[in-house]
Amino acid sequence: MNAVDIINKTKKKVPLTDEEIKYLVNGYTSGEIPDHQMSAWLMAVCLNGLTEEETVSLTLAMRDSGDILDLSCIGKITVDKHSTGGVGDKTSLIIGTAAAACGVAVPKMSGRGLGHTGGTIDKLESIDGFRVELPFAEFAEIVNKTGFSIISQSGKLCPADKKIYSLRNATGTVDSIPLICASIMSKKLALNADCLLLDVKCGSGAFMKTPEDAEKLGRLMEKVGRAAGKKVRAVVTDMDTPLGCCIGNSLEVREAVELLQGKVKGRLYEVCMELTANMLELAGKGSLSECRAMAEEAVSSGRALAVLKETIGLQGGDSRICDDAGLFKTAKYSHVIYAPRDFEVVSVNAEELGMASLLLGAGRINKGDEIDYSAGIVLEFELGDKISMDAPLMTLYSDSVSDFSEAALRAYNALTFKTLTGVALT
Ligand code: URA
Repeated sequence: MNAVDIINKTKKKVPLTDEEIKYLVNGYTSGEIPDHQMSAWLMAVCLNGLTEEETVSLTLAMRDSGDILDLSCIGKITVDKHSTGGVGDKTSLIIGTAAAACGVAVPKMSGRGLGHTGGTIDKLESIDGFRVELPFAEFAEIVNKTGFSIISQSGKLCPADKKIYSLRNATGTVDSIPLICASIMSKKLALNADCLLLDVKCGSGAFMKTPEDAEKLGRLMEKVGRAAGKKVRAVVTDMDTPLGCCIGNSLEVREAVELLQGKVKGRLYEVCMELTANMLELAGKGSLSECRAMAEEAVSSGRALAVLKETIGLQGGDSRICDDAGLFKTAKYSHVIYAPRDFEVVSVNAEELGMASLLLGAGRINKGDEIDYSAGIVLEFELGDKISMDAPLMTLYSDSVSDFSEAALRAYNALTFKTLTGVALT
């Protein structure tokens, strides 16, 4: 077996055997297969795709490149949830705590943000003292106690994905459905929960820009997960507009806490309750409508907030933020954008708002960049609201940027308006 033959087969759309895929993944992870050969193969996959069988083999070879967690010490059915990432997506904190409050265990490993998309680990690190790196035994102990814990992805899980993902970033080979599927599913299967809910984001702020591609990715991830013996369901949710009104790490944790306090409804609440209901149903807690009612009760009773508070405390964070919003860090600088005329906002481009937020310091351009936890954007309207001239549209926050002109222009241009007399403006 050699790498050139394997590259040629994929180039000619001849399916690879399981052994050939293992040879490639193991050889690249150990350093025997060099970057240039792996890059050529990844590009061939981007152009020609992989069969479902090849995608299963690739995912399992990547999963098996490192540790696979043994969650048998957790005394309840375990349910993991993965979101394919977007702008303003703070659902993990809400869904994980609501599901835990309904009696399932939610052990989660999450990642950091890159580019216009945020990452749950960055959001959690905006909480003073919060530890995102815990030994496995402590992670499992917290899950057993509260039902919920989130830590950063362990370096011992899926080393193959770590190496392949950074090569994909450097070689223009990220946007391939089988490669995205194998990357996400190898990590999820290494975490090894009993059930997995996949929230496939679709729209301008997401990896998948069209409903067809989002559906294709969701179905493929379901097939791979089921081939590995897991209960898996994928749901597609909209990411054309940001989820909720806050974008930026500390601002998003605050919004999640406010939702768990019962103060936030709208699309963010609806999406979170639907996703929680799906997790509970997958875990055998009842029908979808019974599970939806359980999820809503977990929030309205304050039990989900109590799970979050206890988990933050056990992970070393300042859990008083769950009672006192004044304890969230506020940015040194802020800038309000006012409506220049009477209008209605008909759409918000999530990717553009994510980019504006990045300019304020809320995200990373390159892996390893420092981020400003207090930076971000708060939308002061809901889609469809009638907005009067001079009413606040958005507030921009930053600790690191005092000149808001570039970010404000980008954020304003992310909106599409219609005047209240019905003439569309660009
Ligand atoms: N997230 C991942 O973990 N991998 C991808 O390839 C894309 C999104």
